Amino acid sequence: MTARKTPTVVPSLLAGDLSRLGAQLDLLKAAGCSWVSVDVMDGHFVPNLSFGPDFVKLCKSRGFFVDTHLMVTNPLEVAPWFADMGSDVVTCHLEAVSDAAAALGKIRSLGVKAGLAVKPKTPVDGLVAALDACDLALVMTVEPGFGGQKFMADMMPKVSALRAAIDARGLDCWIQVDGGVGAATVAQAAAAGADSLVAGSSVFGAQDCAAAFRDLGAKARAAFGSKHP
Ligand code: DX5
Repeated sequence: MTARKTPTVVPSLLAGDLSRLGAQLDLLKAAGCSWVSVDVMDGHFVPNLSFGPDFVKLCKSRGFFVDTHLMVTNPLEVAPWFADMGSDVVTCHLEAVSDAAAALGKIRSLGVKAGLAVKPKTPVDGLVAALDACDLALVMTVEPGFGGQKFMADMMPKVSALRAAIDARGLDCWIQVDGGVGAATVAQAAAAGADSLVAGSSVFGAQDCAAAFRDLGAKARAAFGSKHP
């Protein structure tokens, strides 16, 4: 059995204030944050445009572990750009690749950890089937493309299915949830079995982003521990 991972809150830069993102990152680092998420959007896979590889460089310059969530139609073409800038995890969408295991292997061949994500309408089966090639399994709890949306609690059975599969097979794989994670929803995501909780507006939109980060982490660890000792 692989050791339990400590549930970790992962601020999503999409909700950051670009006029003072460096200062916000420094506040989060001082609050104990070690992992941030960079959302990459191409305007085709999702109806929005966001960050390029330089944002990974900004986060790495401040010593963060960085996961890059590729919401693009050509993840294997752009993955090297983000790996080269220091991404620690590169996550592609199941809906954007023809062979998930091969895509994950290609990402791992770049020397980074490989993640696989599913949109709300996509069943979790394809993600469960690819777990052996996965370092991170991402269940979207909003329709990808924008921050500040409502958490989709009906995605929790997907998280529980992943938790059961990973535990049964003793796999070393994060279960990440992304979208609408905040003080009112983080506990149910962690209780379902998620150990990586991406939070954008609930952290960066807070008066005190460091306090919000710490509060979410405490809630996540308490909820996870009570259900997955
Ligand atoms: C949505 C992004 C999420 C989003 C989360 O497509 O992948 O990471 O930024 O933001 P909140 O936490 O505000 O829903």
